[in-house]
Amino acid sequence: MENKIIIPLDLDGKEASELAKTLDPKICRLKVGNQLFTSSGPKIVKEFQQQGFDIFLDLKFHDIPNTVHEAVKSAADLGVWMVNVHAAGGRKMLEASRKALEDYSNPPLLIGVTVLTSFSEDSLLDIGLSNLSEQVIRLTRLAKNSGLDGVVCAASDTKFVKTEFGKDFLTVTPGIRPSGSRLDDQSRVSTPLEAIRNGSDYLVIGRPITGSSEPKKALEEIYKEIS
Ligand code: C5P
Repeated sequence: MENKIIIPLDLDGKEASELAKTLDPKICRLKVGNQLFTSSGPKIVKEFQQQGFDIFLDLKFHDIPNTVHEAVKSAADLGVWMVNVHAAGGRKMLEASRKALEDYSNPPLLIGVTVLTSFSEDSLLDIGLSNLSEQVIRLTRLAKNSGLDGVVCAASDTKFVKTEFGKDFLTVTPGIRPSGSRLDDQSRVSTPLEAIRNGSDYLVIGRPITGSSEPKKALEEIYKEIS
């Protein structure tokens, strides 16, 4: 099984550094998101890279096309493995993010966020949108047509995305819970095995690993389940 699990380090800098030291870059990649990047910046990304980890820089850029173009270039200059943008930023912004990477020989994978899983139909109404699944499909199509490499989606949507947009269009799936573990605040969850069977390319698994007293063992157990 290739390196398919991405561990989000939604922690403060010190905790994240300590946890990374217990993990093996051959069997997991790390996700640095808004919390950790805002507190610890590029320095912590470099620290993890020096330990051999691939980094998913999860800052979900959403701004005018020129600003996102420059932000994506900065991410590529940092040498991250994956970076993401909000598909709702629109075609021009997405195309600018693709263009930003054209001069790099080994660019990061460029992933689109469609509708955050924290949105419900009701909360979508507040921002003037009415149909959640239609919105997810619309934004996935926009991401694909703008040249992105894939989308973040629920594992249960992976089959549909692969059928509709091709098997090479990547799916990055959070909301993964090994059988028997706590749901926390996730609702549309899948087990690691279900996610793999549905064709998910990368599984984002946080608290079942980071909240465990033995994170390395928790990760190894998950690999046993999916191998
Ligand atoms: O701890 P848990 O496994 O729920 O962590 C999931 C990670 O994936 C978190 O970093 C969360 O921000 C991120 N995420 C998500 N749902 C999305 C996009 C990202 O849970 N739609």
